[in-house]
Amino acid sequence: MNAFDLTGKLAVVTGASRGIGRAMARGLAEAGADIIGVSASLGPGSDVEKDVTATGRAFEAIRTDFADPDAVRALGADLAGRERPVDILVNNAGTIRRTPAAQHSDTDWELVLQVNLSAQFALTRAVGAGMVARGHGKVIFTASLLSYQGGITVPGYTAAKHGIAGLTKALANEWAPHSVNVNAIAPGYIATDNTQALQDDPVRSKAILERIPAGRWGSADDLAGATVFLASGAADYIHGTTLPVDGGWLGR
Ligand SMILES: NC(=O)c1ccc[n+]([C@@H]2O[C@H](COP(=O)([O-])OP(=O)(O)OC[C@H]3O[C@@H](n4cnc5c(N)ncnc54)[C@H](OP(=O)(O)O)[C@@H]3O)[C@@H](O)[C@H]2O)c1
Repeated sequence: MNAFDLTGKLAVVTGASRGIGRAMARGLAEAGADIIGVSASLGPGSDVEKDVTATGRAFEAIRTDFADPDAVRALGADLAGRERPVDILVNNAGTIRRTPAAQHSDTDWELVLQVNLSAQFALTRAVGAGMVARGHGKVIFTASLLSYQGGITVPGYTAAKHGIAGLTKALANEWAPHSVNVNAIAPGYIATDNTQALQDDPVRSKAILERIPAGRWGSADDLAGATVFLASGAADYIHGTTLPVDGGWLGR
């Protein structure tokens, strides 16, 4: 299916060092895209670099801490000012702080809102402006089941992920007329570092598993297909939607 071919495209994937972002980067590269991976710690010789170069595609690592608004603005200016434009922006970097709401500190709240929402907007504003000017581009956010539900002991994370679902619609409304597709993917419960505390909690992990119709936790690789789809011409008429990849969780 040529509609899914990404040959010649340049994709930026944030949070590409591990987990879901690493799998998204590998999937996009397998579909033909060159990759710029971004994360707080990414450097030369990373696992994701090996994944991408093994497909024959080019890889560049950029280290940026999304907790630092100035660093995010600098990243946006760097990417927006390059000769080779960014065709696909995957806003996937994210962090989580698990503390009951009554004890949830300002520090945790502000960090999670900055990394998971404000940085996503600042980067997308910078890169998206070029997409709008060129009249094409794909933006994909990583939302969450907590873009729909409240979660337990993660109020900042839930607020940020609800914000991502709203931002996806807001940007799509403005940018769809310019043939820039803005959409989100909502992963279900995926076995990564983000959910390690839940996997390690026998009560929570059992309760979660029992509620997943597919009968298993997701793997990061489960997100690759939806990412390639939303990044490709096959999704040209899809704007402002959040696509759950959740083993059926939301339908239950
Ligand atoms: N796992 C799930 O079940 C699940 C479900 C729904 C949504 N999500 C979302 O999926 C996305 C990826 O999560 P994951 O499960 O793959 O988690 P993960 O394995 O913990 O990976 C998180 C990624 O985000 C990067 N990151 C974290 N804080 C950062 C910061 N301050 N600046 C720059 N990069 C930062 C990390 O970079 P470093 O390696 O450099 O720290 C890493 O690449 C997140 O947005 C998360 O909220 C996950």
